[in-house]
Amino acid sequence: MNRFLDLAQFERAQIIDLLSLAQALQDRPEPRALAGRILGLVFFNPSLRTLASFQAGMARLGGSSVVITPGQGTWQMETRRGAIMNGAAAEHIREGIPALASYCDALGVRAFSDGKNLADDLHESVFGMIDALCDKPLINMESAMNHPCQALADWRTLDELEVPQSGKFVLSWVWHPKALPLAVPAATLHMAAMRGMQVVVLRPEGFALPAPIMDKARRAAQQAGGSVTETGDRAAALAGAQVLYAKEWGSTTDYGNAAADARLRAELSDWCVREPWFAGAAPGAKLMHCLPVRRNTAVADEVLDGPRAVVRREAFNRMAVQMAVLHRMLAKPAAVSESIA
Ligand code: CP
Repeated sequence: MNRFLDLAQFERAQIIDLLSLAQALQDRPEPRALAGRILGLVFFNPSLRTLASFQAGMARLGGSSVVITPGQGTWQMETRRGAIMNGAAAEHIREGIPALASYCDALGVRAFSDGKNLADDLHESVFGMIDALCDKPLINMESAMNHPCQALADWRTLDELEVPQSGKFVLSWVWHPKALPLAVPAATLHMAAMRGMQVVVLRPEGFALPAPIMDKARRAAQQAGGSVTETGDRAAALAGAQVLYAKEWGSTTDYGNAAADARLRAELSDWCVREPWFAGAAPGAKLMHCLPVRRNTAVADEVLDGPRAVVRREAFNRMAVQMAVLHRMLAKPAAVSESIA
């Protein structure tokens, strides 16, 4: 494997194979599998889970990692094509990414969008440039419109919970003080569709996911025997649901317009998940969230601290599945054959 950028670039069977490898590495650790291998981790944006789980996973496989946080101890890096670099950034990714790739055996990069231009973000204009500049294996640690590592971990969590492949999965918009990126909702939607679930996107007016994201998920659902629908009706969406996946995201009708987005969300503070949301859900319905989550704005304490919440397991599973991705990318043939034996 040379790239892990989007679950959609894999066959369903390949994803299931990665999940099996994650389980195998958990059951039979391979502390020397990546001995001598170096992973470069570039974070243009903050992280807790992604940073720590990649470093810990790499160490558990016997490899090591280098963390670069542009602008914090290293040069600030420009990502815009044709930029006149007379501001804070001292170097461009066009030089910086190849330099880092030359020191490492693989790179992981986190580069959110600035949420200003929907067409650019749907096109993954920044991550696409990084992809073209990196001549080593590359992992998307969250881009403008994708977070495949989170999606893979969430697929594993659903399997562990024995949520049926055809179960009802509700991806719901929840409140946040400001617009957040579309990466996690887009990746989560695609994951649940690809798993074959009956997916409902629950969102208020102004926050529908862009048509290309919905269409891509619908194609995946069709192949896997599932479905993708959307509604603003909370009770209808949650009726019989096995999973409520809560996520904050920005307005899509007013993408890049902070003032208009703020006006829309000012009326929506009741979009905080509380126990009554689950009144018509399936018995034992679960609450998922990728974290970090703001308590009592996005999800109430009563849900996060109760038996429905599986957010800690989702976070744990980040390391397990990323170890499988790293193993597939970097293990020498002997280690691969050991893992199969
Ligand atoms: N879910 C997730 O990616 O967490 P971090 O932002 O802490 O890495």
